[in-house]
Amino acid sequence: MTDTESDLLARIHMHGVVPRHVAIIMDGNGRWARERHMPRPFGHRSGMKAVRAVVEGCLEAGVKWLSLFAFSQENWQRPETEVSALMSLLEEFIAREASDLAAQGVCVHVHGDLDRLSPAAAAAVHRIRHETAHGARLGLNLFISYGGRAELVRAARLLAEDVQRGHLAPDAIDEQAFRSRLFTAGCPDPDLLIRTSGEQRLSNFLLWQIAYAELYISSVLWPDFDRAALYEALCDFQRRDRRFGNVST
Ligand code: IPE
Ligand code: IPE
Ligand code: MG
Repeated sequence: MTDTESDLLARIHMHGVVPRHVAIIMDGNGRWARERHMPRPFGHRSGMKAVRAVVEGCLEAGVKWLSLFAFSQENWQRPETEVSALMSLLEEFIAREASDLAAQGVCVHVHGDLDRLSPAAAAAVHRIRHETAHGARLGLNLFISYGGRAELVRAARLLAEDVQRGHLAPDAIDEQAFRSRLFTAGCPDPDLLIRTSGEQRLSNFLLWQIAYAELYISSVLWPDFDRAALYEALCDFQRRDRRFGNVST
Protein backbone atom coordinates (compact mmCIF):
# COMPACT_ATOMS: atom_id res chain seq x y z
CA MET A 1 0.00 0.00 0.00
CA THR A 2 1.34 3.47 -0.89
CA ASP A 3 1.51 6.34 1.64
CA THR A 4 -1.44 8.08 -0.05
CA GLU A 5 -3.51 4.90 0.17
CA SER A 6 -2.76 4.32 3.84
CA ASP A 7 -3.45 8.01 4.69
CA LEU A 8 -6.80 7.84 2.94
CA LEU A 9 -7.63 4.52 4.58
CA ALA A 10 -6.77 5.94 8.02
CA ARG A 11 -9.08 8.87 7.30
CA ILE A 12 -11.89 6.52 6.30
CA HIS A 13 -11.49 4.43 9.43
CA MET A 14 -11.29 7.51 11.65
CA HIS A 15 -14.59 8.83 10.27
CA GLY A 16 -16.07 5.39 10.72
CA VAL A 17 -18.99 5.45 8.28
CA VAL A 18 -18.30 3.12 5.39
CA PRO A 19 -20.85 2.31 2.68
CA ARG A 20 -22.13 -1.18 3.17
CA HIS A 21 -22.52 -1.68 -0.57
CA VAL A 22 -20.53 0.00 -3.35
CA ALA A 23 -21.61 -0.42 -6.99
CA ILE A 24 -19.34 0.51 -9.90
CA ILE A 25 -19.98 1.11 -13.60
CA MET A 26 -16.49 0.30 -14.86
CA ASP A 27 -16.22 2.53 -17.92
CA GLY A 28 -13.50 3.94 -20.14
CA ASN A 29 -11.42 0.93 -21.19
CA GLY A 30 -11.79 1.74 -24.89
CA ARG A 31 -10.71 5.37 -24.46
CA TRP A 32 -7.78 4.27 -22.30
CA ALA A 33 -6.61 1.97 -25.10
CA ARG A 34 -7.18 4.62 -27.78
CA GLU A 35 -5.02 7.10 -25.87
CA ARG A 36 -2.24 4.54 -26.23
CA HIS A 37 -2.97 3.80 -29.90
CA MET A 38 -3.87 0.25 -28.92
CA PRO A 39 -6.92 -1.88 -29.80
CA ARG A 40 -9.89 -1.74 -27.40
CA PRO A 41 -9.34 -5.24 -25.89
CA PHE A 42 -5.99 -3.97 -24.59
CA GLY A 43 -7.97 -1.56 -22.43
CA HIS A 44 -10.27 -4.33 -21.22
CA ARG A 45 -7.29 -6.44 -20.22
CA SER A 46 -5.75 -3.52 -18.34
CA GLY A 47 -9.08 -3.04 -16.56
CA MET A 48 -8.65 -6.40 -14.81
CA LYS A 49 -6.02 -5.05 -12.44
CA ALA A 50 -8.42 -2.30 -11.40
CA VAL A 51 -10.92 -5.01 -10.44
CA ARG A 52 -8.28 -6.60 -8.22
CA ALA A 53 -7.49 -3.17 -6.69
CA VAL A 54 -11.10 -2.34 -5.80
CA VAL A 55 -11.75 -5.79 -4.34
CA GLU A 56 -8.72 -5.40 -2.09
CA GLY A 57 -9.66 -1.82 -1.29
CA CYS A 58 -13.16 -2.87 -0.23
CA LEU A 59 -11.78 -5.67 1.94
CA GLU A 60 -9.41 -3.21 3.69
CA ALA A 61 -12.04 -0.51 4.13
CA GLY A 62 -14.69 -2.87 5.49
CA VAL A 63 -17.20 -2.60 2.61
CA LYS A 64 -19.41 -5.71 2.76
CA TRP A 65 -20.81 -5.76 -0.80
CA LEU A 66 -19.27 -4.74 -4.12
CA SER A 67 -21.25 -4.78 -7.38
CA LEU A 68 -19.38 -4.50 -10.67
CA PHE A 69 -21.01 -3.87 -14.04
CA ALA A 70 -18.81 -5.94 -16.34
CA PHE A 71 -20.92 -6.45 -19.48
CA SER A 72 -24.32 -5.06 -20.31
CA GLN A 73 -27.11 -6.53 -22.36
CA GLU A 74 -26.52 -3.66 -24.78
CA ASN A 75 -22.82 -4.55 -25.05
CA TRP A 76 -23.80 -7.64 -27.12
CA GLN A 77 -24.23 -5.16 -30.01
CA ARG A 78 -20.49 -4.46 -30.08
CA PRO A 79 -18.32 -5.98 -32.84
CA GLU A 80 -17.96 -9.74 -32.51
CA THR A 81 -14.17 -9.46 -32.01
CA GLU A 82 -14.65 -7.19 -28.99
CA VAL A 83 -17.40 -9.37 -27.49
CA SER A 84 -15.28 -12.50 -27.79
CA ALA A 85 -12.25 -10.70 -26.32
CA LEU A 86 -14.39 -9.66 -23.33
CA MET A 87 -15.71 -13.19 -22.85
CA SER A 88 -12.20 -14.68 -22.99
CA LEU A 89 -11.05 -12.14 -20.42
CA LEU A 90 -13.91 -13.13 -18.16
CA GLU A 91 -12.84 -16.77 -18.39
CA GLU A 92 -9.22 -15.78 -17.79
CA PHE A 93 -10.13 -13.61 -14.81
CA ILE A 94 -12.01 -16.47 -13.20
CA ALA A 95 -9.27 -19.01 -13.89
CA ARG A 96 -6.70 -16.70 -12.37
CA GLU A 97 -8.60 -15.15 -9.46
CA ALA A 98 -11.08 -17.75 -8.19
CA SER A 99 -8.81 -19.40 -5.64
CA ASP A 100 -7.36 -16.09 -4.34
CA LEU A 101 -10.86 -14.64 -3.98
CA ALA A 102 -11.99 -17.73 -2.07
CA ALA A 103 -8.90 -17.49 0.18
CA GLN A 104 -9.66 -13.81 0.89
CA GLY A 105 -13.21 -14.59 1.98
CA VAL A 106 -14.92 -13.16 -1.11
CA CYS A 107 -18.19 -14.80 -2.21
CA VAL A 108 -18.85 -14.19 -5.93
CA HIS A 109 -22.40 -13.96 -7.31
CA VAL A 110 -22.96 -13.58 -11.05
CA HIS A 111 -26.14 -11.95 -12.35
CA GLY A 112 -27.60 -11.39 -15.79
CA ASP A 113 -28.98 -13.25 -18.78
CA LEU A 114 -26.42 -16.03 -18.52
CA ASP A 115 -28.18 -18.19 -21.14
CA ARG A 116 -26.46 -16.05 -23.74
CA LEU A 117 -22.97 -16.98 -22.54
CA SER A 118 -20.80 -19.47 -24.43
CA PRO A 119 -20.48 -22.92 -22.79
CA ALA A 120 -16.91 -22.05 -21.72
CA ALA A 121 -17.96 -18.74 -20.12
CA ALA A 122 -20.94 -20.42 -18.44
CA ALA A 123 -18.63 -23.10 -17.03
CA ALA A 124 -16.31 -20.40 -15.67
CA VAL A 125 -19.28 -18.71 -13.97
CA HIS A 126 -20.33 -22.02 -12.43
CA ARG A 127 -16.78 -22.58 -11.22
CA ILE A 128 -16.33 -19.23 -9.49
CA ARG A 129 -19.73 -19.46 -7.79
CA HIS A 130 -18.89 -22.91 -6.51
CA GLU A 131 -15.31 -22.15 -5.41
CA THR A 132 -16.17 -18.96 -3.54
CA ALA A 133 -19.52 -20.04 -2.08
CA HIS A 134 -18.29 -19.90 1.52
CA GLY A 135 -16.76 -16.41 1.45
CA ALA A 136 -18.09 -14.30 4.33
CA ARG A 137 -16.02 -11.08 4.25
CA LEU A 138 -17.19 -9.52 0.98
CA GLY A 139 -20.05 -10.31 -1.40
CA LEU A 140 -18.94 -9.57 -4.95
CA ASN A 141 -21.78 -9.24 -7.49
CA LEU A 142 -20.59 -9.48 -11.09
CA PHE A 143 -23.17 -8.26 -13.60
CA ILE A 144 -22.69 -9.93 -16.96
CA SER A 145 -25.13 -9.76 -19.88
CA TYR A 146 -27.18 -7.64 -17.48
CA GLY A 147 -29.84 -5.00 -18.06
CA GLY A 148 -31.77 -3.22 -15.31
CA ARG A 149 -35.05 -3.10 -17.22
CA ALA A 150 -34.81 -6.80 -18.10
CA GLU A 151 -34.26 -7.56 -14.41
CA LEU A 152 -37.45 -5.61 -13.53
CA VAL A 153 -39.44 -7.38 -16.26
CA ARG A 154 -38.18 -10.74 -14.99
CA ALA A 155 -39.30 -9.87 -11.45
CA ALA A 156 -42.76 -8.91 -12.76
CA ARG A 157 -42.98 -12.22 -14.63
CA LEU A 158 -42.00 -14.20 -11.51
CA LEU A 159 -44.69 -12.40 -9.52
CA ALA A 160 -47.28 -13.10 -12.23
CA GLU A 161 -46.35 -16.80 -12.23
CA ASP A 162 -46.80 -16.97 -8.46
CA VAL A 163 -50.19 -15.27 -8.73
CA GLN A 164 -51.25 -17.63 -11.53
CA ARG A 165 -50.30 -20.68 -9.46
CA GLY A 166 -52.30 -19.31 -6.55
CA HIS A 167 -49.19 -18.85 -4.38
CA LEU A 168 -49.54 -15.09 -4.13
CA ALA A 169 -52.50 -12.72 -3.89
CA PRO A 170 -52.22 -9.57 -6.06
CA ASP A 171 -52.81 -7.54 -2.89
CA ALA A 172 -49.72 -9.09 -1.36
CA ILE A 173 -47.48 -7.57 -4.05
CA ASP A 174 -45.55 -4.88 -2.23
CA GLU A 175 -42.00 -3.55 -2.44
CA GLN A 176 -40.71 -6.45 -0.39
CA ALA A 177 -42.35 -9.01 -2.70
CA PHE A 178 -40.89 -7.23 -5.74
CA ARG A 179 -37.43 -6.88 -4.24
CA SER A 180 -37.28 -10.56 -3.40
CA ARG A 181 -37.63 -11.41 -7.13
CA LEU A 182 -34.61 -9.31 -8.17
CA PHE A 183 -31.21 -10.89 -8.79
CA THR A 184 -29.98 -9.02 -5.75
CA ALA A 185 -32.59 -10.41 -3.33
CA GLY A 186 -31.00 -10.61 0.10
CA CYS A 187 -28.33 -8.00 -0.68
CA PRO A 188 -28.71 -4.46 0.69
CA ASP A 189 -29.14 -1.64 -1.86
CA PRO A 190 -25.97 0.17 -2.94
CA ASP A 191 -25.14 3.18 -0.77
CA LEU A 192 -22.65 4.52 -3.28
CA LEU A 193 -22.66 4.24 -7.08
CA ILE A 194 -19.38 5.09 -8.80
CA ARG A 195 -19.07 5.60 -12.56
CA THR A 196 -15.64 6.07 -14.07
CA SER A 197 -14.61 7.91 -17.23
CA GLY A 198 -16.74 10.97 -16.55
CA GLU A 199 -19.96 9.73 -18.17
CA GLN A 200 -23.03 10.95 -16.32
CA ARG A 201 -25.59 8.22 -17.00
CA LEU A 202 -26.79 4.93 -15.55
CA SER A 203 -26.71 2.89 -18.78
CA ASN A 204 -29.47 0.56 -17.49
CA PHE A 205 -27.62 -0.52 -14.33
CA LEU A 206 -29.51 -1.52 -11.15
CA LEU A 207 -32.50 0.73 -11.77
CA TRP A 208 -34.46 -0.43 -8.73
CA GLN A 209 -31.59 -0.81 -6.31
CA ILE A 210 -29.98 2.62 -6.70
CA ALA A 211 -33.10 4.58 -5.75
CA TYR A 212 -31.22 6.21 -2.85
CA ALA A 213 -27.57 5.59 -3.76
CA GLU A 214 -25.13 8.50 -3.57
CA LEU A 215 -23.69 9.11 -7.05
CA TYR A 216 -19.97 9.66 -7.61
CA ILE A 217 -18.65 10.35 -11.08
CA SER A 218 -14.90 9.93 -11.44
CA SER A 219 -13.11 11.27 -14.49
CA VAL A 220 -10.50 8.49 -14.19
CA LEU A 221 -10.68 5.86 -16.96
CA TRP A 222 -11.35 2.41 -15.50
CA PRO A 223 -7.87 0.87 -16.11
CA ASP A 224 -6.37 3.74 -14.05
CA PHE A 225 -8.86 3.39 -11.20
CA ASP A 226 -6.89 2.17 -8.20
CA ARG A 227 -7.21 1.80 -4.46
CA ALA A 228 -6.52 5.50 -3.87
CA ALA A 229 -9.29 6.43 -6.33
CA LEU A 230 -11.68 4.12 -4.48
CA TYR A 231 -10.69 5.62 -1.13
CA GLU A 232 -11.23 9.16 -2.51
CA ALA A 233 -14.77 8.09 -3.42
CA LEU A 234 -15.32 6.65 0.07
CA CYS A 235 -14.06 9.89 1.67
CA ASP A 236 -16.41 11.87 -0.56
CA PHE A 237 -19.27 9.60 0.51
CA GLN A 238 -18.44 10.34 4.15
CA ARG A 239 -19.06 14.05 3.49
CA ARG A 240 -22.57 13.47 2.11
CA ASP A 241 -25.68 14.30 4.10
CA ARG A 242 -28.07 11.42 3.37
CA ARG A 243 -31.53 12.66 4.21
CA PHE A 244 -33.79 10.06 2.53
CA GLY A 245 -36.47 12.70 2.15
CA ASN A 246 -36.31 13.67 5.80
CA VAL A 247 -34.70 16.80 7.25
CA SER A 248 -31.07 16.96 8.40
CA THR A 249 -30.39 15.85 11.93
C1 IPE B 1 -16.11 -0.39 -20.21
O1 IPE B 1 -15.30 0.27 -21.09
C2 IPE B 1 -16.14 -1.89 -20.41
C3 IPE B 1 -17.39 -2.39 -20.97
C4 IPE B 1 -18.44 -1.68 -21.24
C5 IPE B 1 -17.44 -3.81 -21.26
P1 IPE B 1 -15.78 0.66 -22.56
O2 IPE B 1 -15.44 -0.47 -23.47
O3 IPE B 1 -17.18 1.07 -22.56
O4 IPE B 1 -14.83 1.90 -22.85
P2 IPE B 1 -15.21 3.27 -23.57
O5 IPE B 1 -16.42 3.80 -22.88
O6 IPE B 1 -15.47 2.94 -25.00
O7 IPE B 1 -14.01 4.13 -23.37
C1 IPE C 1 -21.91 0.50 -19.34
O1 IPE C 1 -20.90 1.05 -20.13
C2 IPE C 1 -21.73 -0.99 -19.26
C3 IPE C 1 -20.58 -1.45 -18.51
C4 IPE C 1 -19.72 -0.72 -17.87
C5 IPE C 1 -20.41 -2.87 -18.49
P1 IPE C 1 -21.10 1.38 -21.68
O2 IPE C 1 -19.84 1.99 -22.14
O3 IPE C 1 -21.56 0.16 -22.38
O4 IPE C 1 -22.31 2.41 -21.63
P2 IPE C 1 -22.68 3.59 -22.62
O5 IPE C 1 -22.69 3.02 -24.00
O6 IPE C 1 -21.65 4.64 -22.46
O7 IPE C 1 -24.02 4.03 -22.14
MG1 MG D 1 -18.12 2.86 -22.28
